[in-house]
Amino acid sequence: MPTRKRVLINVPVTPSLLAPLESEYEIVCHVEEALTIEAVSEYRDIEGWLTTTFQPVTREILDDLPQLRVVSNVAVGYDNIDVAACTSRGVQICNTPDVLDAAVAELAIGMLLTIGRGIRAGDAFVRTGAWQHGPAPLTSDVHGKTLGILGMGRIGRRVARTALALDMNVRYHNRTRSTDDSGATWVDRDTLFRTSDFIVVLVPLTAKTRASVGTQELDVMKKSAYLINVSRGAVVNEAELIGALRANKIAGAALDVMETEPIGADHPLCQLPNVLLLPHVGSATRETRLAMTELAITNLMDALACRVPTGDVNRALASGHPHSRVTDRN
Ligand code: GLV
Repeated sequence: MPTRKRVLINVPVTPSLLAPLESEYEIVCHVEEALTIEAVSEYRDIEGWLTTTFQPVTREILDDLPQLRVVSNVAVGYDNIDVAACTSRGVQICNTPDVLDAAVAELAIGMLLTIGRGIRAGDAFVRTGAWQHGPAPLTSDVHGKTLGILGMGRIGRRVARTALALDMNVRYHNRTRSTDDSGATWVDRDTLFRTSDFIVVLVPLTAKTRASVGTQELDVMKKSAYLINVSRGAVVNEAELIGALRANKIAGAALDVMETEPIGADHPLCQLPNVLLLPHVGSATRETRLAMTELAITNLMDALACRVPTGDVNRALASGHPHSRVTDRN
């Protein structure tokens, strides 16, 4: 009997989801931690790899995996993967577009309402007994305010629609102008930062976007404005953001993502009262993670069988739509 192709899994997966994969491939698991260059030699003969954003897929690691044909990320982002190194080796990269849009958009709007309406401060006001000494400070309306979306892909359009339902004015900046009916208005990048009451960062992390939001952008924002990041921490220059928050140059920030994750309680961000911090949970609901894992497994099996996967990063990049399915408008 011919030996079966081997697939490496280093992301936690509900065992029942692996049944279709197990029927065709030999599965090897390394889920305790990210695979290091030292550990990779154990998996030299793998042809497929199911992984996620905490795992760097570097040129050095790829050098030790000569049979590898597919890396399937359980994530829409793929900044953990050296795309050029994969492309030059003919390795297919897959991601999980669409299925997490609603969950990430929900969280972005939840963060906006939390900071805008002082929900966390209100909770603390009750718990500490401060309420018995007088009424809570007033907050500001969210309706009627301007939301600026930096990066208008599928998640951005979903955030836009929800914000419009809250009677916010919605503006966005993107390389290309959206052709759909999301109801948001395109503005140049500088206008977005100058005029918005809330900015939601949604651009993917690339060499171009790394640290692309920093002092220059924070300096022109309104003093009353908030920055919300649900994309990747490294898109924002964290040291410069911390400086701006310390100096109260903006009203505050809400971050689901940080430059290096996970951060500890001693991180400077944890010392700041004007920032809401979440542990990278944009897509972390049971339903969405299930859908992402199912899609990533289907992508992996399709690509190994030489079928075009739904989350075809190589093809999306070649067609100039880096964060989306080729059929999607961005
Ligand atoms: C999560 O951060 C993702 O890229 O899916």
